[in-house]
Amino acid sequence: MPDHDLAALSDLPQDEPVKAMAGERAILLIRTGDDVTALTHECPHLGLPLSKGVVRDGTLICAFHHACFDARTGAQTQPPGHGDLQRFAVAIRDGRVIVDVPDDAPAHPMPDRARGTSDARRFVVAGGGAAAMAAAAELRERGFDGVIEMVSPDGPPLDRTMLSKAVLAGAKAVGDLALHPTPADLDIATIAGRVIAVGDGTVTLEGGGTRAFDALLLAPGGTPRRLDVPGAELPGVYVLRSGEDAAAIAAAAEGAETAIVVGGGFIGMEAALSLTKRGLSVTLATRNALPLAGIVGPDVARAILAEHVEAGVSHLAETEAVAFRADGDGVAVDWKDGGTARADLILTAVGVTPGTDGIDGIDTGDDGGVRVGPGMGVPGRPGVHVAGDSAAAPTPFGTARIEHWRVAQQHGRRAARAMLGQAGDADDIPFFWTALARQYRYLGHAEEWDRIDIDGDPSGPFLARYVKGGTVVAALTAGRDAELAEMHLAMARAGGPVPA
Ligand SMILES: Cc1cc2nc3c(=O)[nH]c(=O)nc-3n(C[C@H](O)[C@H](O)[C@H](O)COP(=O)(O)OP(=O)(O)OC[C@H]3O[C@@H](n4cnc5c(N)ncnc54)[C@H](O)[C@@H]3O)c2cc1C
Ligand code: FES
Repeated sequence: MPDHDLAALSDLPQDEPVKAMAGERAILLIRTGDDVTALTHECPHLGLPLSKGVVRDGTLICAFHHACFDARTGAQTQPPGHGDLQRFAVAIRDGRVIVDVPDDAPAHPMPDRARGTSDARRFVVAGGGAAAMAAAAELRERGFDGVIEMVSPDGPPLDRTMLSKAVLAGAKAVGDLALHPTPADLDIATIAGRVIAVGDGTVTLEGGGTRAFDALLLAPGGTPRRLDVPGAELPGVYVLRSGEDAAAIAAAAEGAETAIVVGGGFIGMEAALSLTKRGLSVTLATRNALPLAGIVGPDVARAILAEHVEAGVSHLAETEAVAFRADGDGVAVDWKDGGTARADLILTAVGVTPGTDGIDGIDTGDDGGVRVGPGMGVPGRPGVHVAGDSAAAPTPFGTARIEHWRVAQQHGRRAARAMLGQAGDADDIPFFWTALARQYRYLGHAEEWDRIDIDGDPSGPFLARYVKGGTVVAALTAGRDAELAEMHLAMARAGGPVPA
């Protein structure tokens, strides 16, 4: 029976996403005036409940990683993830909300994607990660049915964000992380290889061979840095970027008892916790006294570190590894102050070099990244675009090279529009999340601030606002997700920072 009586209209609050059950199936109801829209309740990104989200001005935002949807049609308008929300027919009868829920309606119908060969242009996408896949999907959704070739040294595109979390914790295997849609779903030819040079209308691949393009997207992500010290490449000293890296660390962790993580950025912090959850005794060695303080500020950084210590991670502050040596089945590390330590495995998580560094024919900045315009185009190089971790791109908070998943997907979508000749815009609001002892979510972008206003105690639910020049340029929360989602929509309306 497809018709389900889900609620009394008078019980539904205005512009708030509400969960209702149609038999076994959860439905999201949104009342606007006396109209009700009924949509899929699970977000297409990770399937989490959209009833925790926020609706403002016709946009529904998922509270977890800030995917956005048209609240009337269910169409996805902002990443992460791909897929619209199914919209179900609604009738209001005698003040009751009656929703037609066909048994076979897919939860996340895919937007129409072009198929055919009518467009003679050839597009090359270098990379098989977040930015590349978002660009490819956007090209097809915008009707491009010509040739797209994806050049990447990796296997199938995967959700890289899970590597330091579920994979290192032993909860998921690398094979469980495939991104959807896949290149095959999008009629994309995949070429195993690496772009090493960009010329006029052609790229050169490592080992020889060229591919011609009418438009090119370079989305090579980042290459994890190795410490420039003796023994940094010894077996047993790992870096973490690819599925292969994560599988190797997970295999080494089987039967291991101790690990040392060198580096107090987000990946090092996540990895230290995940290996601890797996039962290893983990030491986190950081150059600073307070890891992450330069990004989140000292108060929140202190709370995060305390959570790590409480979870069992030992912290070695203000230290640097100066050499690694093979030591039986493990590795010994020499610290700058003269001390040494030994572990069954060592992970060095000390940042990445943009993948564009070393690609011939492209001007890079000092850090190896490429400064691009609003449509991710490289100035002076018609048809050449850079997206993702390698791109220093304009944002409403200034030009920045931001190394986060949702931003890379936003870049990919912007680049795709520009490759099709559509106008570029740079009004996407940056956002990222990190899964530490709690889920932390960060909005906007602040490399410096005049002050941090923290509402709540950082060791409990809190919302921190990073204020510069009288405006909020960034915000961070743990536990107050709906408020952060609301601020996101306010920043989107304002086109950037909001009044403090
Ligand atoms: C372990 C880990 C955990 C993370 N967790 C989070 C998180 O929780 N939240 C968050 O917001 N962000 C997270 N990130 C960051 C996020 O994954 C990146 O910002 C995002 O993947 C960048 O997308 P990208 O497309 O630029 O690069 P990538 O996803 O790295 O893709 C780059 C692709 O290009 C390929 N490639 C490299 N060089 C070449 C070349 N010369 N030619 C062709 N192909 C090439 C690579 O092999 C790869 O397939 C995490 C990153 C890692 C490594
Ligand atoms: S689950 Fe909705 S954005 Fe991730």
